Parts: sequence; structure tokens; C-alpha cells
Amino acid sequence: MMKKIFSGVQPTGTVTIGNYIGAFRQFTELQHEYDCLFCIVDQHAITMRQDPKELSRTIRSLAALYVASGIDPEKAILFIQSEVPAHAQAGWIMQCLSYIGELERMTQFKDKSEGQDGVSSALLTYPPLMAADILLYNTDIVPVGDDQTQHLELTRNLAERFNSRYGDSLTIPEIRTPKTGARIKSLQEPLKKMSKSDPNQKATISLLDTPKVIEKKIKSAVTDSEGIVAFDEANKPGVSNLLSIESAMSGQSIEALVSKYDGLRYGDFKAGVAEAVIGHLAPIQEKYYNLVESSTLDDILDDGRERANAIATVTLQKMENAMGLGRQR
Ligand code: TYM
Repeated sequence: MMKKIFSGVQPTGTVTIGNYIGAFRQFTELQHEYDCLFCIVDQHAITMRQDPKELSRTIRSLAALYVASGIDPEKAILFIQSEVPAHAQAGWIMQCLSYIGELERMTQFKDKSEGQDGVSSALLTYPPLMAADILLYNTDIVPVGDDQTQHLELTRNLAERFNSRYGDSLTIPEIRTPKTGARIKSLQEPLKKMSKSDPNQKATISLLDTPKVIEKKIKSAVTDSEGIVAFDEANKPGVSNLLSIESAMSGQSIEALVSKYDGLRYGDFKAGVAEAVIGHLAPIQEKYYNLVESSTLDDILDDGRERANAIATVTLQKMENAMGLGRQR
């Protein structure tokens, strides 16, 4: 049997080149070798307050970006989490298996709740829902950026806990992060990850930014005063980040890029990075605008919902039977 892949992206803000390099790029490579499911995790998005109109626009936009970035709906299943009810149901089961202590230790929870008023209880129980997403599809491999490692460890623990309490039935998933670009950094604070939700527009490049905007943002990216293009994440985080970005976008190795910029100034380097990003995104943007308002996109999502639902319902029923929920089926 072909191994199974599952991954999800939250429909919050516009997808950044960080998401693209850490996640989407892996997805499009993997779909040829594995049975893949890709999800728009809208139920995860509402763990923080969202504007309803904006959320529904963003869901559609993310769906179109998946396809525009190269997900082939003939090969992979693309669907919206809230359209497959088994996610919330299995999410509840995973919550019942989770300990408050282990959830409070999640760094994403700490980061997002720190100093906030009115933190939703779902921000704490976010990782069990994520575990449910993955476990419902007997997933073997989860391609993500490295900020999701801790959530994946928890998912594995919950699956093992389920199996040891109720008998082996859930597949224990492996994480897969890309070799370069597993953590693309903010253009303004190159020690922090680039994040969709960063309020500073200059810190991120969105997949839908125009060439002019991309040039401007890269031009104002924080580097250092050394004036030498070299890869050294500890001492030259800004320059190293730009090298990772160009490498991911152009397919050239970091070493090849370092020799390409040997003796050149940061101005030339940044122009080169911008050119690689703009060139790589142009066909994606064209495909995106053709698709986002089309009925083709609805057909893809309808089909994805049916196919995901068929698989998820079976696993959910297995879990419920194993736990003694409802009447045995
Ligand atoms: P999200 O929506 O924050 O990010 C989507 C994907 O992009 C990766 N990523 C990055 N990669 C490299 N550099 C960055 N700066 C960067 N920022 C984000 C993330 O690692 C992720 O792969 N909890 C998940 C969504 C989720 C999920 C799942 C993922 C829900 N259920 C099941 C996998 C499987 C999240 O918030 O991703």
C-alpha cells in the first residue's frame, strides 16, 4: 500500500514564503510518491477570534493557493476541515486522552496566550485537534516546518496512549521537515520565524505580493554591517535567511549562491534574491487569480470533502468502538 501523507495550513492572513518553503514546496514533491491529503484547517483558525467575512475569504484564497502552488487535485485530496465532522469528533476523543500539563508545555500555546486577555480554552486544546486531523487518515508522514515538531511529538504520544489503552489501531506518524528552509525568518527580526500573523508588513513576503512590493521588502531586509555574503545562521542570521530563501526559490544550493555573490555588495545580493522570488511566484500568482473565483475550485473542494469524509468516518468509528462509545458497530 502507498504510504499516506497529511498536512494542514491555517487560513489566517495570507500565506507567506515561509509557509511555502516549509510546507507547500514539500507537498507538491510528495504528491507523486504518496497518497496525500491536504487540509485547510479552519477550525484551528477560530481558536483565535476571526472576522467571519475575512475568514471565509481566506479559506477560499488558501484553497486556491494550494492548487496554484502545484497541488494536483487528481492526485491529492484537498478539503476544508470543518466540512468533515469527524475532525471535531476525534478531536474531542484526543482531548480526553490529553493531560492539561502536557498541553500547557506547548510553546505555541505559551507564545499565543502570553499577556493576552480572554484566551480561548481551544487555544490550549489545539494540539489534540491537530492530532485528530492526522490520526484520522492513518497518516505515515506529516510534512511541516520545524515549528510544528512539538505538536507532532504530542500526536505520536497520543496515538501510542490510545493504542496502549484501547488496543493497537492508530498509525504512529513520522514528521518530515525540509533540509533547507524548515524555518524561514522574519525579514525585520531575523532571529524570529516569519509568521502570517506578524503585524509588521515588512517582515513577511506573501505569495500574492506584487513584484514591486517584494523588491521593496527585500531591499529593506535587516542584514549586518560585514558586507560579505556567507551562510552563518548564528552570526549572520539576516544574510543566511535571504540565502535560504533564494536557494529554495531558485533550486540552487547555498554553496552555489555564496560563490555567485562572492565579492558583490549586499545591494546586488538583495536584487538577486528578489529576482528569484519574483520569478518563482509569477506563475503561481497567475494560476491563483484564474482559480480563486472559479467554480472549478468548488468542484475540487466538494470532491475533497467526499473523499476525506469516507476515510475519516471509518477511522472515527474504529476509535469509538475501541473505546466503547455509543453502540458497537
Ligand atoms: P501554520 O498554518 O502556522 O503553517 C503552515 C505550515 O507552514 C509551516 N511554516 C513555516 N515553515 C518554514 N518557515 C516558516 N517561517 C514557517 N511558518 C510556518 C508550518 O510549519 C506548517 O507546516 N498547526 C499547524 C496547522 C495544522 C496541521 C495539522 C499541520 C493543523 N492540523 C495537521 C500538519 C498536520 C499550523 O498552525 O500551521
